[in-house]
Amino acid sequence: MRVAVIGGGLMGSGIAEVCARSGVDVTVVEADDSRAEKARASIETSLDRAVRRGKLEDADRGAALERLAVTARLDDVEGADAAIEAIIEDELAKRELFRRLDALLPDARWLASNTSSVPIMKLAADTSRPEHALGLHFFNPVPVLKLVEVVRSIMSADDVLDDARAFAEQTLGKKCIDSQDRAGFVVNALLVPYLLAAIRMYESGFASREDIDTGMVLGCAHPMGPLALSDLVGLDTLLAVSQSLYEEFRDPSSVAPPLLNRMVEAGLLGRKTGRGFYDYSAAGA
Ligand code: 3HC
Repeated sequence: MRVAVIGGGLMGSGIAEVCARSGVDVTVVEADDSRAEKARASIETSLDRAVRRGKLEDADRGAALERLAVTARLDDVEGADAAIEAIIEDELAKRELFRRLDALLPDARWLASNTSSVPIMKLAADTSRPEHALGLHFFNPVPVLKLVEVVRSIMSADDVLDDARAFAEQTLGKKCIDSQDRAGFVVNALLVPYLLAAIRMYESGFASREDIDTGMVLGCAHPMGPLALSDLVGLDTLLAVSQSLYEEFRDPSSVAPPLLNRMVEAGLLGRKTGRGFYDYSAAGA
């Protein structure tokens, strides 16, 4: 099987790595050559880390890299059996991409989006085969977290959903849950109001960022606190999800606090830019 992964950022490169490690041929498409190089380098780094930690044999690392193609030309996806879109959370960009994928992959088994905020139906509506579109929503870090949300639009066909679910579970070894096509799906609809509440608490001076995070790690056994997790998710992504939740449900719990808006405007997006609620520049994270 050959899968096209469009977008080689945090999520796309993680999805591509998991595919390549699971025996799937994968073509990653990035916007230009330098981003394509960056995506390849980040997958290689992650594979190296897995070898160092004794989770991957050196030979399997080599085999995974042989299954991986990284390109800056979308046309290179031609002939892929399925596609997973993981570009920026921008509705117009995703819709345009679905239009182009529909034309390039007329026989694809399915076209999936890893979106956390755009309704799948909006993407499906721009294709000639809306029954073949669905959401496959992975979680960061993709090589570590087991969950994939399978999102059914009102037009998704049962056999397409079954096929994509079998791919995620049997081929990639993930565990799937089903979600209707509602903003945030299951996990972000619960998680994002919590993260926003933590940012509001920090912004108001109620408690320090360290104490908020320590509170949830030691008091509730979460693997990381909400401000550190916001930095991991990416503050631009968090803002996009909050906006889509608010647009859909109009619940005040989804309104982005001013501090989140200002940080995104300042380019303080979390780990991926080296600074968010915490500074990662020294760690090179
Ligand atoms: N890639 C691959 N493996 C990684 C990794 C990465 N980026 N980061 C960590 N790991 C692995 C390590 O190799 C290690 O494996 P081992 O224990 O088998 O050797 C294991 O994960 C634990 O890593 P560390 O010891 O370095 O660090 P931690 O114990 O602090 O774990 C963490 C790091 C896995 C990020 C953990 O803190 C965690 O799970 N945090 C919560 C993440 C979370 O909630 N993600 C969901 C975000 S929501 C989302 O993605 C949806 C989107 O739409 C917004």
